[in-house]
Amino acid sequence: MVLICAPGVVAEQTARVRLEIVMDQYIIKGGKALAGEISVSGAKNAALGILAAAVMADETVTVENLPDIRDIDILLQVIASVGAVVERVDKHCVRINGGTINTIIVANDNSRKIRGSYYLLGALLGKYKSAHVLLPGGCDIGSRPIDQHIKGFEVLGATVRIQHGMIEAEAVDLVGNHIYLDMASVGATINIMMAAVMAEGQTIIENSAKEPHVVDVANFLNSMGANIKGAGTDVIRIVGVPKLHGSTYSIIPDQIEAGTFMIAAAATKGDVTVRNVIPRHMEALTAKLVELGAEVEEYDDAIRVVATKRLGSTQIKTLPYPGFPTDMQPQITALLAVCSGTSIITEGIYENRFKYVDELARMGTNIKVEGNNAIVNGVAELTGASVVAPDLRAGAALVIAGLVAEGYTTVEQIRYVERGYECFEKKMRDLGADMEKVDSEDMKAVQKFKLKVG
Ligand code: EPU
Repeated sequence: MVLICAPGVVAEQTARVRLEIVMDQYIIKGGKALAGEISVSGAKNAALGILAAAVMADETVTVENLPDIRDIDILLQVIASVGAVVERVDKHCVRINGGTINTIIVANDNSRKIRGSYYLLGALLGKYKSAHVLLPGGCDIGSRPIDQHIKGFEVLGATVRIQHGMIEAEAVDLVGNHIYLDMASVGATINIMMAAVMAEGQTIIENSAKEPHVVDVANFLNSMGANIKGAGTDVIRIVGVPKLHGSTYSIIPDQIEAGTFMIAAAATKGDVTVRNVIPRHMEALTAKLVELGAEVEEYDDAIRVVATKRLGSTQIKTLPYPGFPTDMQPQITALLAVCSGTSIITEGIYENRFKYVDELARMGTNIKVEGNNAIVNGVAELTGASVVAPDLRAGAALVIAGLVAEGYTTVEQIRYVERGYECFEKKMRDLGADMEKVDSEDMKAVQKFKLKVG
């Protein structure tokens, strides 16, 4: 197994190992309106599927516009652990060659830290008709079963069992078939697509997920010679091909990162232009921001959000795409917490995605959670506090609240945030925020920050 890295990237990775040990936190002084421009990175959830799919070719695949985030580093380590060549060209570009893979057993412990490692099941099963992968991890936002993935593999002819913490999928032959998903699962759609691209004959996935990252993975597979039609609708048709070839592909922009900055702009009564976005992917959020009273201007590949006053209230239910994304639910709740009136947020995807509400309360929010609903009574102001990020998107929501709050906020456990946001504090600083990443135990760094921002 070879993991080749450009010299700068080695230093970068060493720095990341350090982060695992020293427990960094964000320190924020709130109260400034965000203003200016930022550029969105490549989509995390597309990248995870695409990197796994890349191992299906025995030729070199080049993936560009890769987000420089922790989940990607972890998945690349896992991919390298089965023998693929993983060559990090720079922070945003990697070359992968699956021709040197020497095992279908993905036992690398890192794979349990992320959700995306389970895409190696579909990729290796599709390519080698056999895959053993440790059950994945991911954010603790409720029960996250994989029964639909398993159902799909079985319908294609695989036998699947779970033992000793591993999912083991084996097939003599994979044969195209008709699969109806019980729910429009992103992960199951992508995994089944990968298992089916080299199966014999035609596979039809009904009630498939329509998220932009599902379409991006399908486009990537097609760029490698797959025959997938209908991605982005609820029926995907795949005709199996004998093999896939090398490709060069650029990942779409991250819809959730873009949305996080749009919400931060609205919450701080700012004026922010978010560049490198696909405005169509943002429609559910854009409609809500406009309904709340913000101004949203759409350009070809940018969105400007301006809020000049305190925004109003609304009702939101998270739904599969094109509905309002669950991955933006915590962030919009942080915004609604400082808007006027009462809003109701219904979480329609996960059973336990309101854990951060208790942390927001430390800053003075008035939010009551009843089952899958959060009743948000807007307050006029928040005050800075020490809070702990319970997961990735919740961490981003706490940062947004910290940017609004009067005084200092510290957000601990930012390793969650770094799983999905590239240079989060730097991008916020570029918009004028007083925000830094410091070692939790380095009191001097905290004091230095306070002296600097006054
Ligand atoms: N579900 C099942 N059985 C399955 C699969 C899913 O019951 O076999 C349920 C889940 O429990 C959940 C719903 O179906 O209630 C949707 O799950 P889905 O499979 O769509 O989610 P996922 O693939 O595990 C991806 C993203 C999540 C994002 C969801 C929904 C990745 C790596 N993760 O998860 O991203 O919330 O889709 O859009 O793509 C994040 O980025 O913060 C994040 C959590």
